[in-house]
Formats: sequence, C-alpha cells, structure tokens
Amino acid sequence: MNALKLAEKRHSSREYKHKKLTDEDRRYVNDLLLNIPKINNANVEFSFVEDGWDLAPHMEGLAGYFGHMITAPHYFALLCEEGETCHKWVGYLGEWFILNALKQSIGSCWIEVKDVPAVKQLLQIDSPKTIAALIAFGYPKKEFHSSSLYSPSHPNSLSSLTDLGYPNIEAISNEGPISSRKAITEFVDHLKYGDKASLEELEQLGLHRAFFYMRLAPSYHNRQPWHFVVHGHAIDLIVETSEDIPRVIQGIDAGIAMLYFQVGLNDAGFGGHWHTDQLEVDYELPQNKRVVAKWVYA
Ligand SMILES: Cc1cc2nc3c(=O)[nH]c(=O)nc-3n(C[C@H](O)[C@H](O)[C@H](O)COP(=O)(O)O)c2cc1C
Repeated sequence: MNALKLAEKRHSSREYKHKKLTDEDRRYVNDLLLNIPKINNANVEFSFVEDGWDLAPHMEGLAGYFGHMITAPHYFALLCEEGETCHKWVGYLGEWFILNALKQSIGSCWIEVKDVPAVKQLLQIDSPKTIAALIAFGYPKKEFHSSSLYSPSHPNSLSSLTDLGYPNIEAISNEGPISSRKAITEFVDHLKYGDKASLEELEQLGLHRAFFYMRLAPSYHNRQPWHFVVHGHAIDLIVETSEDIPRVIQGIDAGIAMLYFQVGLNDAGFGGHWHTDQLEVDYELPQNKRVVAKWVYA
C-alpha cells in the first residue's frame, strides 16, 4: 500500500475486540520496534503494556480526553526525557509505529496522560523518564471513520461521540468544521509567514503531493496546529502554541507533522532531513506561532 493510501485509511480506533494480538502480530510489532528509525539523541522508549483490559479501568480519570480512558488489549507507554526535542521524537516515532501497525490491520489511538506519576505507578514503570503519551492498539471493533468524529455537520458524528463517552466534548480548534482537515492553502506560505502559497505555485515546486499527504496527519483534538513556510532550499515548520495545551502534547503534534511531511516529501522524490536546533527565521511571526523544525533539502 502506498503512503498516501495508508494515511487515508488511518484513523483513531477507540473500540477494540476483546482479543490479544496473535503471536504472528506480536512478532510483527516486535520487528517494527527493532526497525524503528534511529534518531540520534531521541531517547524515546516504548514500554509494552500486556494486560490492557485489566489495567484500563484503573487508568480512568488518569489518562484520555476528559480522563476518559480508551480500553484496549495492549498499550505502549512512550517514555522520554522532559524537553521539547524528546517530545517531538515521541510524536514522530509513535506515529511511525501507528502507520506501520496499520499495514497489518492493527488499529491504534494516541492517549494523553493526565497524571503521569499515577500511571507510571500503575504500569509499574520504574524509569526516571516521563510518560509522554500512551498508544492503545489491537484489533478495531468496527471500521468507522473517526476523522468525522468531530464534525458537527456529519451524520452520526454527535452520536458517535456520545457512544464513545464524550458527551461534553469541546474541541479547541475554532477554524471550520473541526473533523475536516484544513485545505493546503490554509497552512502553506511562500517565503514569509502570511504570504499564502497558491496550489499552482506548490505544483510548480513539486510540493503539492507532500502537502496533500501532510494535511491527513492526526493531532490532539484534531487541532492541526501546523503551518509551513516554503523557501527555495528549505521549508520551515511552524506550530501554534497555546497556554491551554500541555507542552508535551504540543511537542508530539509537531513530531507527528514532521513524520507526515517527510513521508510525503520522500514519496514525491525529495530527499533531505529535519533540523531541530538553532532555528531562526528572517520574517515576523505572530506571537502564538513559533518555528519548531526546518526541512533542508539534500
Ligand atoms: C498527542 C495526541 C493525544 C491524543 N489523545 C487522545 C485521547 O486522549 N483520547 C482520544 O480519544 N483521542 C486522542 N487523540 C486522537 C485525536 O483526537 C485524533 O487523532 C484526531 O481527532 C484526528 O482523528 P483521526 O486520528 O481519526 O484522524 C490524540 C491525538 C494526539 C496526536
């Protein structure tokens, strides 16, 4: 399956069959972890949680939107050091796992952790690192397109939310129907922030496919907090910051965006790599936006 098809198929699975992974799929998952991209100084660890069904009820109130835990046969606790760099790599590597697990029809969902010490104790994780997030995974109960979960205009959307136990959900994003992904032209600028790139321009640069892929990336509350500024030799990734959203979550969203955009670029034939240090831009940014990574073409 090509990268775009995979990303189109991907959605968060919030209900799972009461069934552990088969031995074959366990081997597949183990192999994935062995082949995970090697990032210097990423320092991210995947800690496997075998007995999801037994432990999930004890995590109620401690993890998940509104403390509403998603029950799954297994979880990974993603451990990392405090600090934005590590948080970004959690997003990047966690989402790499999610996309690759999907190739084997294993569904998954990111879960925020609200009370890290309590969850660490419960999962008996004895590490100086923090739990940046959990990833639930297993065989999804039913196929539904949860990207439409947040869409007020989508049939069944509100009932889906209620079924899933989010009767009072209030999404944080405020631009348009929240479930839908933003149009490319809403989040891509040319040369400086605020100068919108047209689709024609992006097509001429050969970047339209990469951005089409990028817009499918998942994010916390489906905020899609990313923005790009395209230059001749490099592309800046800018994210929206918010006092209301934990730093760790903002870092994970940035890392997920880095993975998606890189896969999209590679798929379109562009090489290069991300720089995450000493990021400076020579144009003005709004107060609530900052550059978090720069893609430099090889
Ligand atoms: C860092 C992060 C944390 C998330 N935490 C939760 C969570 O606690 N509960 C939940 O139901 N979904 C959670 N999600 C899933 C998002 O709501 C979901 O990815 C987004 O709405 C887009 O939908 P999709 O994944 O189906 O495309 C989280 C996603 C991210 C990136």
